[in-house]
Amino acid sequence: RKDFQIAPSILSADMAKLGEEVDNAMAAGADVVHFDVMDNHYVPNLTIGPLVCKALRNHGVKNDIDVHLMVSPVDRIVGDFAEAGASYITFHPEASPHVDRTLQLIKSTGCKSGLVFNPATPLDFAKYVLDKVDIILLMSVNPGFGGQAFIPATLDKLREARAMIDESGFDIRLEIDGGVTQNNIKEIAEAGADMFVAGSAVFKNPRTVEAYTDTITKLRA
Ligand code: DX5
Ligand code: ZN
Repeated sequence: RKDFQIAPSILSADMAKLGEEVDNAMAAGADVVHFDVMDNHYVPNLTIGPLVCKALRNHGVKNDIDVHLMVSPVDRIVGDFAEAGASYITFHPEASPHVDRTLQLIKSTGCKSGLVFNPATPLDFAKYVLDKVDIILLMSVNPGFGGQAFIPATLDKLREARAMIDESGFDIRLEIDGGVTQNNIKEIAEAGADMFVAGSAVFKNPRTVEAYTDTITKLRA
């Protein structure tokens, strides 16, 4: 199948040194910056917005930035993230009353679009909009926090999503987010994922490019 992408989640980075942390993770072999946006409304935590995305671009980050919106409403923040340099914008269908319209809005900015499925959310939301979706992201934890344990039922859901994507014939990435480690990434890949978010598994002490290289090399292997 196509190439695998490793996307460190900066939620677990040292926010006081964010530019350096992202530089180190990308120098360590990561492909994509996973950027978690939480609003203390749709999810019980508050993180970062377009200002920080723009700051990373100004800092010189060239890799794709995968903006994971855990916010409601969705639509009014989409344009700001596109202008701030987002590459992918994904959102939770429960957080937007008109999912098709939000997907069209994201595509109209030139960004790639994606739907995110919470552990209990069925894949049905994707069925009639697959032509407008570049990424399907399955949450393998409940959104809001890093460092939680992978929910095993997600493996069956990954197989279901992989079959849906392959049958559709569309070029859609299957991303997994939550509790990905060196110990479970192999079975997650075998279940069909091709884009792997890893927050706490990558951004831990020591916060050095050598340590990040060691982790990302093992994840990729
Ligand atoms: C959780 C976020 C994840 C989080 C993953 O709501 O969407 O991206 O950072 O963290 P780990 O890899 O530590 O589970
Ligand atoms: Zn995320």
